[in-house]
Amino acid sequence: MSKQFDVIVIGGGPGGYIAAIRAAQLGFNVACIDEWKNAKGGPALGGTCTNVGCIPSKALLQSSEHYEQAGHHFADHGIEVKGLGLDMARMLGRKDTVVKQNNDGILYLFKKNKITFFHGRGTFAKAVDAGYEITVAGSAPDTLVGKHIIVATGSNARALPGAPFDEEMILSNDGALRVGAVPKKLGLIGSGVIGLEMGSVWRRLGSEVTVLEALPTFLGAVDEQIAREAKKAFDKQGLKIELGVKVGEIKTGKKGVSVAWTNAKGEAQTLEVDKLIVSIGRVPNTIGLGAETVGLKLDERGAIVVDDDCKTSLPNVWAVGDVVRGPMLAHKAEEEGVAVAERIAGQHGHVNFNTVPWVIYTSPEIAWVGQTEQQLKSAGRAYKAGTFPFLANGRARALGDTTGMVKFLADAATDEILGVHIVGPQASELISEAVVAMEFRASSEDIARICHAHPSLSEATKEAALAVDKRTLNF
Ligand code: FAD
Ligand code: NAI
Repeated sequence: MSKQFDVIVIGGGPGGYIAAIRAAQLGFNVACIDEWKNAKGGPALGGTCTNVGCIPSKALLQSSEHYEQAGHHFADHGIEVKGLGLDMARMLGRKDTVVKQNNDGILYLFKKNKITFFHGRGTFAKAVDAGYEITVAGSAPDTLVGKHIIVATGSNARALPGAPFDEEMILSNDGALRVGAVPKKLGLIGSGVIGLEMGSVWRRLGSEVTVLEALPTFLGAVDEQIAREAKKAFDKQGLKIELGVKVGEIKTGKKGVSVAWTNAKGEAQTLEVDKLIVSIGRVPNTIGLGAETVGLKLDERGAIVVDDDCKTSLPNVWAVGDVVRGPMLAHKAEEEGVAVAERIAGQHGHVNFNTVPWVIYTSPEIAWVGQTEQQLKSAGRAYKAGTFPFLANGRARALGDTTGMVKFLADAATDEILGVHIVGPQASELISEAVVAMEFRASSEDIARICHAHPSLSEATKEAALAVDKRTLNF
């Protein structure tokens, strides 16, 4: 006899587990199936984000930042550090502990919300009168029937043709977070979000890092002024980024990896490194889902086709997160998960794609929401811009971190905020104010008139809003 559920969620990453919790809160009988295994073969809920993505990368970014501060910047504060050392095993162990705390936290939340968890692979078997039959393959095989199915099976790293990941020499994000000793020379292909974050981790820990990027422009999706400022900071730190390259043959040997590449001038080059991280984007994951068995439609990239409401081509089958269109971000996946659970309950769940923030957790951090100056120009929209440098912010001076700026873009006629872009300290936290403002369709004057605590980095946000009207007070 198969087990019946109102809602079955396939995938326990941020899209899936949050959808399961919201559906349970709304009174549904919910199951969640996830196949991720920890080192001991047990469940490890949280998907890419928790296991090999957001959480472990931020743990290593923090540890490596402490190392860099102790080695290079504590002296500015009059703190002497002698005999500074690096215990890689301990640093990786701490990261693993942080991951496990998050895995266990989700298991606890499932118990609290009375969600039935199945550890294994969920596969569509067939449509039945009561919904869909889903088989679970794992240590405890099972057959379930769900009236509504939410697919949240995430994404996998994209490999370069002819250079599969071996996670020893050619690393995906997974191997990049498990390197046991600091490589003397590290290569990265792709200067996107992972390239910059992982490149920063290993550079801070002592690697000589070279990043090869195909596009001629640096961080093409980021506001040009902000990207330029960030590039200046990365250059100063010694992160070598080559733009406009063409990557050729990649060979692995006992000693390391050799990458043939052509630079922007068309000159042939070779990069010899101990390890190579390939971070050229991610592909939606529907491996083993049985999409074809039930006729679930995929697009040419392999993503599940959904409408604006995350409805798929099949009735009562929904899909959220990295496996569908849109930015591959944990918080976007979560918002979609909540909205779908609410729609199943007959409510009006909504995701505002215009206010999904982006953050790159390098130093300086880069964060933005809304449109860039180049997007506004190409759309022919009349706008006003205001910037404020952290160099003129008292708190940034006290922190000893004055790189970067806050930039506001507002409609020329109505003053509505159209985009906010930040490069600098704590940009990841500062961007929230801009998201709230844009959700409420605030004007730059609204932010300029709000009292911000002194001394705080958020005063730079207020000042950038004042700058839109050319009336900064501290610059
Ligand atoms: P996933 O998190 O990929 O979860 C999918 C889950 O489904 C997995 O557990 C998988 O095992 C399981 N699964 C797949 N198929 C099946 C099946 N058939 N049966 C059962 N289970 C199945 N985003 C941010 O917003 N901020 C960040 O700082 C950030 N940092 C990142 C750093 C790195 C190195 C990487 C790689 C990604 C990062 N991301 C970040 C992106 C973020 O991790 C993803 O956008 C997010 O995890 C997507 O969530 P999801 O639920 O769609 O899928
Ligand atoms: P990405 O899309 O951010 O960057 C990939 C880069 O590789 C691009 O600049 C692209 O031009 C380049 N590229 C593609 N093919 C290439 C080739 N053959 N040779 C050289 N360069 C090539 O992808 P990335 O860094 O792999 O990250 C995947 C996704 O994971 C991100 O887009 C993001 O959605 C998510 N992520 C989010 C983070 C965050 O929010 N802080 C952190 C890390 C990942």
